[in-house]
Amino acid sequence: MPSTSVSEQPVTRNGAALLSLDDVSIQFGGLKALDGVSFDVREGEILGLIGPNGAGKTTCFNVMTGVYQPTSGEVRFAGEPLGRRKRFAITRLGIARTFQNIRLFGNMTALENVLVGADAHHRTNVIDALVRSPRHRREEREGEETAREVMKFLGLERRADELARNLSYGEQRRLEIARAMATKPRLLCLDEPAAGFNPAEKAQLMDLIRRIRDVRGLTVLLIEHDMGLVMGVSDRVAVLEFGRKIAEGAPVDVRNDPAVIAAYLGTEADDAGEFDQEGDL
Ligand SMILES: Nc1ncnc2c1ncn2[C@@H]1O[C@H](COP(=O)(O)OP(=O)(O)OP(=O)(O)O)[C@@H](O)[C@H]1O
Ligand SMILES: [Mg+2]
Repeated sequence: MPSTSVSEQPVTRNGAALLSLDDVSIQFGGLKALDGVSFDVREGEILGLIGPNGAGKTTCFNVMTGVYQPTSGEVRFAGEPLGRRKRFAITRLGIARTFQNIRLFGNMTALENVLVGADAHHRTNVIDALVRSPRHRREEREGEETAREVMKFLGLERRADELARNLSYGEQRRLEIARAMATKPRLLCLDEPAAGFNPAEKAQLMDLIRRIRDVRGLTVLLIEHDMGLVMGVSDRVAVLEFGRKIAEGAPVDVRNDPAVIAAYLGTEADDAGEFDQEGDL
């Protein structure tokens, strides 16, 4: 195994809160995108985060990863307030994410895209890189080992040298997950990873998310509109509507919660009809 240092990462007990949102609000002009939202992601769990379009799900990811600062409230990771940490510092703490819209470098190879993630823990500076110091070369080697190993886990090892834009849509989505995993996170946040997938691809993704938790030991926070997928794979589910948390609990309870049903019935009629099926909401 590569030995890149992850010593910055704080320690928590199994099952304790790994990430906590505590009364988090964020305002964009007149709009409260998050309004007093609190929930925990417990170490080792798969937590689903659902809610109608515009509910504030992606905004949660953005305040957890340093893209935005909350207007009020606090985000803690392993008990430590994130404060005004920048994105790279939060990545080093152990939070990684994927994006709702694929963000890859199309003209770089698949491997190079994953190396961007693997570089997150590098300690060498520009001078080390220019003179190709032993430490720089070691970190490069370790980064590539990490990247290749993660790509193998995701079934992408044979695509390593292909340009990212030549990969199939499903492979590109997995490549995004590979890049996030190459940062060696403790918490992996996936923003609608099944968007645009057919039923077979969704089933494979469910299996993959389970393996990410069971085999890799990562904690997973999953934003997903597909009810069959999110209810099937999550240990617990939290529900947002108009920036507020309206429910949290076991999938079966959340599914039958009148406030949740009302939130989805309040969306387009076509969508609401699919609530009890395996379709998109
Ligand atoms: N940077 C921003 N500036 C202004 N408004 C924003 C910004 N980011 C998000 N919003 C608004 O905040 C609300 C929540 O958006 P968010 O993207 O978090 O929703 P979501 O739950 O992820 O929805 P979807 O399921 O459609 O992805 C929306 O009304 C959105 O338009
Ligand atoms: Mg979103």
